[in-house]
Amino acid sequence: MPKTENYLGIDIGSTRVRAVMAQEISGEESLRVLGAVSVPSEGMRRGSVIDASAVSSSVAKAVSHAERMSGVSANVVGVSISGTDIFCQKTLGVIAVSRPDGEVAEEDVERAMAEVESRVMLPSNREVLHVIPKSYRLDDQKDIKDPVGMRGVRLEAEAFVVGTSMNQMKGFGRILDQVGIRPSFHAVEPLAAAEAVLSQKQKELGVALVNIGGSTTSITIYEEGELVHLSVLPVGGAHVTNDIALGLRVSIDIAEQVKLQYGTALPDTVGKREEIDLSRIDSRETESVSRHHVAEIIEARMEEILVLVNLELAKCGREGLLPSGAVLTGGGALLPGTVELAKNILRLPSHVGYPKPLGGILDQVDSPDFSTAVGLVLLAREGVGSHRNVAGIGFLADGAQKAIPDWMLSSGKKIKDWLRKFLPLD
Ligand SMILES: Nc1ncnc2c1ncn2[C@@H]1O[C@H](COP(=O)(O)OP(=O)(O)OP(=O)(O)O)[C@@H](O)[C@H]1O
Ligand SMILES: [Mg+2]
Repeated sequence: MPKTENYLGIDIGSTRVRAVMAQEISGEESLRVLGAVSVPSEGMRRGSVIDASAVSSSVAKAVSHAERMSGVSANVVGVSISGTDIFCQKTLGVIAVSRPDGEVAEEDVERAMAEVESRVMLPSNREVLHVIPKSYRLDDQKDIKDPVGMRGVRLEAEAFVVGTSMNQMKGFGRILDQVGIRPSFHAVEPLAAAEAVLSQKQKELGVALVNIGGSTTSITIYEEGELVHLSVLPVGGAHVTNDIALGLRVSIDIAEQVKLQYGTALPDTVGKREEIDLSRIDSRETESVSRHHVAEIIEARMEEILVLVNLELAKCGREGLLPSGAVLTGGGALLPGTVELAKNILRLPSHVGYPKPLGGILDQVDSPDFSTAVGLVLLAREGVGSHRNVAGIGFLADGAQKAIPDWMLSSGKKIKDWLRKFLPLD
């Protein structure tokens, strides 16, 4: 019998909660998606929890649907952390090589990374989630990618430390406790999305992943295969919707529909006389509005977001300089005209980034707004059996890798009882 592993990725976003269940069958190269769900997210703002029970209810809904769809229980669960509290900091760690003959062993590298983690100068209210090795120095030799097997006395590791605020982690911890999920690992959203969308070649050449979410936009820059910069801005697609609501004096729900059905970030592509009949969105509305005017509102906000992205590129000296360009992902990247606007403002080749193709019910996740959830299942696979995976995630100890309580899957009634705590069932 081939061995199977089931990975669950839970992306708790500001506007949607997504859950993807994917199965790895030993001997098969790609993962098979067995379940993929997206439900509205309640109780989140800018990636932080403002109403734990509302978020718990959304997470419970997404996870239970994904489990029912796939009919399996996960043995590794990854949960994304998003929001503007995310930080990224370069840090050094130095150790003495332990073997008397000076040969560097795996344990030395692990110790050097642990040293990085302990040395990082953080305010006490911050928590480290990823320690991503950048390069090593062994005595006088610099820029070593893998020092194992080399000989020396003093090993210095340079790494990026990525994390978030303790408050945010506590908020997420409360939600997951309420839902009865013990995650095997947390990954910050920009790194999970990068795992799903970017190829190694793009990372080598130089690329910026721009994840335009609901209330945040993250920028993750890679060059020569390494992370160069990561930051999260407090603006996203929901700001576009708010602007439309204010500009047209309509509700947020109507504004969102106007954006989804008629929106574009390029007013020049819309005839000046084109009208949107609002009664087609909501029968209580009687007015028509100019589609050109809507496009102008969208353009103004999307321009602002992309100018802020460009400032991040400038901060690390990569403005207009990344050969693999800008890859736009997240729900906001689906807005027509965004790619063209990005090309003009960032002066980079730009395109929409989709998650790498997997097997199974692929069409369900073949959309930029599933990048983070797909990235989590890919990171889950990378992490199995290793202490630290490619994204520098420390997996929790084996005992903590239990994801969904067994009883949840073993009894339909119990699932219903459990869900009743969160959802209006029947
Ligand atoms: N087809 C579409 N056209 C335009 N905008 C879209 C489309 N689909 C989704 N969006 C927008 O994408 C945004 C949500 O993106 P996404 O689902 O990636 O965010 P999130 O993960 O919930 O939020 P965050 O990452 O900020 O916490 C919303 O503002 C939504 O209006
Ligand atoms: Mg998101």
